[in-house]
Amino acid sequence: MTSATADAVGARGTPGVPAGPAHPSEDRRWRQVDVRIRRLGARPDGLIEVLHTLQQLFGYLDDDALAYVSEALGVPPSQVMGVATFYSFFVLKPQGAHTCVVCTGTACYLNGAKAILRALREALGVEVGGTTADASLSLLGARCLGACSQAPAVVLDGEVHGKVLAEEITALVASHA
Ligand code: FES
Repeated sequence: MTSATADAVGARGTPGVPAGPAHPSEDRRWRQVDVRIRRLGARPDGLIEVLHTLQQLFGYLDDDALAYVSEALGVPPSQVMGVATFYSFFVLKPQGAHTCVVCTGTACYLNGAKAILRALREALGVEVGGTTADASLSLLGARCLGACSQAPAVVLDGEVHGKVLAEEITALVASHA
């Protein structure tokens, strides 16, 4: 969720809803954020819901994410920051040095997400939403990462791994923890 890359434009793709601001990165999870914004009508009163979606997809809310939401919803940056810091369930920085997001959306669930989560929990000794004792890795879940054709999908440090096997992804994730 870092590095400003201006070429991926947050196109809402809905008549009457203006194209959104440039995505902070080329990470495809921004498309999921756009879908959520579109469903909420790209209005300021969708702020908390959009922040929830962002945190679920990325694990935390950084400055780029807050700026994107501010622009996309037309909410002043100070107000976005105010909401993000007021509610204790919002996290403004990664809790572990690495972040692993396992998709548990329908396509991924039907293709093995449950086994992947079980294997990761056992290998890392943490539950979903938790961080390893040495703060090396946070294990997170998401409802859909927008990569259903790649189900089951896991995002490790922002990189999407599709059609993963539990043993493969567990070994890869464990090497980051
Ligand atoms: S359900 Fe997993 S990427 Fe869509």
